[in-house]
Amino acid sequence: MGNVLIVGDLHGNTGHALASVQVAARNDCAKMFVVGDFGAWEHMLSGRRYFDVVSKAAKRAGVIVYFLDGNHDKSSLLHEMYDGKRDDEGFLICRKFLRYAPRGHRWTWEGTTFAAFGGARSTDKGWRLARESRKEEQAERRRRYGSLRQSDASGTLWFPEEEMTDDELDALLEADSSPVDVLLTHDKPRASRPKFNRKDRPECFPNQDRIQRVVQTLRPGLHVHGHLHFRYTESISCGGDRWTRVEGLGADPDASQYPGYDNEDSWMVLQLPYATELLADAASGKAG
Ligand SMILES: [Fe+2]
Ligand SMILES: [Fe+2]
Repeated sequence: MGNVLIVGDLHGNTGHALASVQVAARNDCAKMFVVGDFGAWEHMLSGRRYFDVVSKAAKRAGVIVYFLDGNHDKSSLLHEMYDGKRDDEGFLICRKFLRYAPRGHRWTWEGTTFAAFGGARSTDKGWRLARESRKEEQAERRRRYGSLRQSDASGTLWFPEEEMTDDELDALLEADSSPVDVLLTHDKPRASRPKFNRKDRPECFPNQDRIQRVVQTLRPGLHVHGHLHFRYTESISCGGDRWTRVEGLGADPDASQYPGYDNEDSWMVLQLPYATELLADAASGKAG
């Protein structure tokens, strides 16, 4: 059970989350790691239930589920609720079998070093803010007629903490800039060129540039990310003659618009300890 199943965006899709836990168990993975847009919505009852259900299924399967934050996770609330509850490796314990890796977190599994950097820019930010204010107007009307005591729709659909700031990243890299074997993020590095949903938009570039900076500082052999809802593999330079193999993972089927989508696009098995010869393969072009 030394392997890790790395899983793309779940967006609170319970069926796909539970299917992924089963895939982890079938592939000798005692750990499953979701690379953001997990569905951390504990400001809602349905979000709290989702956490409960995933943790219980993980317990039954003998798997611990970990995740980092995507743009659609309310990470401020995770910190508020669980900063004081950490396991021996520094993960925040949200449920007994469900743990959150905050931005810049580092750990070692089976001799393989990891770092996690969550966050990304929402391209539908305007739509989400408009919907929040419509909900707020409706609540205001109900408040006036006495059918609702209190409501605050802000921070329910769009989360102001969604992307890292430059200051946040500076502080994280200043605290520790040593290399890692495996980098896990939500957003893509600026340099990768997938053929679908590349998010080549000016508002997305600052955070992609931050992830690129992380790649060039930590120089991982492997970098796995989500957010594009598209499965691709590519090698990018991480400085000098070193190369990083980038694996973009697909999302849950409800969020997948790529025509050739298959459930298997949304996960990959990482065997530990991570085979560093992949790095040499990538450098020589064998790893596509
Ligand atoms: Fe997503
Ligand atoms: Fe995302």
